[in-house]
Amino acid sequence: MSKTRLGVNIDHVATVRNARGEKYPSPLRAAIIAQKSGAHSVTIHLREDRRHINDSDLKEIKSKLKIPLNLEIAATNEMLKIALKHKPNFVCIVPEKRKEITTEGGLNLNYKKKFLKKIIDKLKKNGSRVSLFIEAKIRDIKIAKELNADCVEFHTGKICNLINKKKKYGNELKRIEFAVDFASKLGLEIHAGHGLNYQSTKIINAKIKKIKEFNIGHFLIGESIFFGLNTVIKQFKKIII
Ligand code: PXP
Repeated sequence: MSKTRLGVNIDHVATVRNARGEKYPSPLRAAIIAQKSGAHSVTIHLREDRRHINDSDLKEIKSKLKIPLNLEIAATNEMLKIALKHKPNFVCIVPEKRKEITTEGGLNLNYKKKFLKKIIDKLKKNGSRVSLFIEAKIRDIKIAKELNADCVEFHTGKICNLINKKKKYGNELKRIEFAVDFASKLGLEIHAGHGLNYQSTKIINAKIKKIKEFNIGHFLIGESIFFGLNTVIKQFKKIII
């Protein structure tokens, strides 16, 4: 068993389905194949505009999946209510802007701090493990701890862009490594995600040993078009061992 967990984000299976307003490809089918292929969890992001995953996907996947379901939600009353009802094993609170193409940065933890604390408390009491999707910044890590989150997920978008553009990424890698050390000393579990592909996952995992979970979606689903989910998930698992 690998020391690090792989969370497979299947949002973009729903993106393809929704592009034609059909019932296929099925996110549930993808979730079950991910499970069979050795994913440690399946991630879905229920967006306010339901642009990919919708409410019935959530219901169906939660009822059939045996590995943990990680539900990403924005910090809103609507999403809190849904998460409390479905009791996903893991909840990751993410920022959400309507017009963004994808989650552009980490949460602003100073904004709506009291509300965030309320959400986190309720979700934890309801049995979900709660993670906050943040930038690898000391100030934000301290607030995440204050808010009593179980985990922090560091946004890896910037380092992935630098690696993809063949630019120098050493300083960014050091910044993340420092943040990982700081957060783990505070007792937070560390996750990483956004923009990861084989190369960036390999680089980050080789240098930073305390990351417990990688959450990977867009690249993984894209590669699966050519090689199948099973092969791509196994390849990622080999990298993070
Ligand atoms: N982790 C979080 C919290 C996310 O919101 C996302 C999607 O933006 C991912 C991981 C996966 O990112 P990607 O689809 O770029 O692999």
